[in-house]
Amino acid sequence: MAVDRSELLAKVDWERGEVSADIFIDEDIYRLELERLFSRAWLFLAHDTMIPKPGDFLNTYMGGDPVLVARQRDGSVKAYLNACRHRGMKVCRAEDGNTKHFMCTYHGWTYDIAGNLVNVPNEHDAYHGELPKEEFGLKQVAQIDSYKGLIFATFDADAPPLLEYLGDSVYYIDAWVDHVPGGIEVLPGVVKWTIHGNWKIAAEQFAGDGYHVNVTHMSSLAQISNTDLYTGPSPAGFQFSSRLGHGYSGIYNQPSRFEDGAADYRTQRMQTAIDRLGPERANTVGNFTVFPNLSGLPGQSNLRVWHPKGPNTFQIWSWTVVDRDAPEEVKRAQQLSSTLTEGAAGTVEVDDGENWDLMGQLLQDGYQTRLLKWNYQMGLGHETDDHATLPGRINEMYFGEGPQRAFYRRWLEFMTSEKWPHCDDFDDDWSKKVNR
Ligand code: FES
Ligand code: FE
Repeated sequence: MAVDRSELLAKVDWERGEVSADIFIDEDIYRLELERLFSRAWLFLAHDTMIPKPGDFLNTYMGGDPVLVARQRDGSVKAYLNACRHRGMKVCRAEDGNTKHFMCTYHGWTYDIAGNLVNVPNEHDAYHGELPKEEFGLKQVAQIDSYKGLIFATFDADAPPLLEYLGDSVYYIDAWVDHVPGGIEVLPGVVKWTIHGNWKIAAEQFAGDGYHVNVTHMSSLAQISNTDLYTGPSPAGFQFSSRLGHGYSGIYNQPSRFEDGAADYRTQRMQTAIDRLGPERANTVGNFTVFPNLSGLPGQSNLRVWHPKGPNTFQIWSWTVVDRDAPEEVKRAQQLSSTLTEGAAGTVEVDDGENWDLMGQLLQDGYQTRLLKWNYQMGLGHETDDHATLPGRINEMYFGEGPQRAFYRRWLEFMTSEKWPHCDDFDDDWSKKVNR
C-alpha cells in the first residue's frame, strides 16, 4: 500500500473532531479510495424511473469506472463495466437510450443488454471459431439491488446486503422516497458540471453542514426569499448521524421557499406525509448523504451524485425529483424552482461551487495549507444514541458536525481495512444500535 496504515489512522481523529487537510488532495489517498471505498461500498446507480422499459440503459460511474445500467427483458436490472473485453474501449458512448446491443466502435465486438458477448467480427475465419465468447462478457458488478426504486450496486461480493448497508438511514430515506403513495419520479435530463475540489467536501456538507447556509448563501437567499434563516441561532431541527457513515440534517416547519405554483398541492401532500410518516419526518426540510457519494435536498426536489475524477476534481450529476403522481404543472413548478436554485447555474448552487473550487485551489497550490488539521468539533458530546423516537445518533439541533464525524469515521474504516469493514470489528457500542 502506497499509504502507510498508521499514517492514515492519524489523519482522522473522529473522537476529537479533527481531519487532516491532505486527505482532500493527496494522490495516493485518492487511488486508495478508488480501491477500498468505491470498489466496495454500495453506490447509487439510478432510480427505477430513469430506465423504466426493457432495453433502457444509462451510463454512469462507480468511482472512476464507467458502468452501464440496463433494464432487462424480465424487468430486472444489470450493471457492468462499460469497457470492452478486447482492448478496454467503451462499448457505449451515449449517455442513455434504449437498445438491444452495444457494439464496440473499435473492432466491433458486440454485447447484448445483459452484457454477454454475442457477436465478434471474423469469428469464424480470423478466430477459427475458437474464441470462448461466453468467457468474455462485460464485467458485471458483484451485487445489485434496490430500495424503493433507488438502484445500488457494489463490486464487492463480500459486501453485506443493501438494506444492511443502508441501516438506520432508511428511516430518513423513506421521508423523501415514500412520503406519498405513488413514490417519486426522477425527471429526464441529468445536469452535469465539474468542480475543482475534492468530492468529500461536498458529500460531508450535504450530510451535516447547515452551518454554512447563513453565510455562504446570504445574498442568494436574501434576494429570492423572505426566509428568516439567517437571524443567527441554529434553526429548530435535528441531525442524524449513522454509524454506517450516512447523515441527514433537517429543519422543522420550514416553509417551501422555491416552489411557487405548487402551494396547494404541497399542503395536501404534507397531510398525506404526516399520515404515512408522522410529523417529525414529514415536517422537516433538509439535506442528506447516503455514504459515500449520494446526496440530496428533498425540500428542493434535488438528488445528486458526487463522482470523483481525481483528488482535486469531481463531477456533480444532478436530477430533479418529483412526486410521480403529482399533476404535470406541479412537476414543472418543482423542476423550475429546483433548476433555478440547485441547477449548475442555480442561485444557491454557485455559492457552494465557489467555496469548493477555492478550497481545492488552496490545497492544490499550497504546502502549509495541506498540513492543517480542520476542525469538526461542533456539537461534540452533545448528541444522543437513545433518542425517544429517532433512530441513529441524534443532535437535537440543525447546526452540528456529528454527521461529518460519522462520515469520516466510516471513511477511515474503509480506507484502513483489508476486508469489508463490519462495524462489529471496531470496538464501541454504537454499532449495536444500528438496525434496532
Ligand atoms: Fe472493443 Fe476491440 S476494443 S472490439
Ligand atoms: Fe449550500
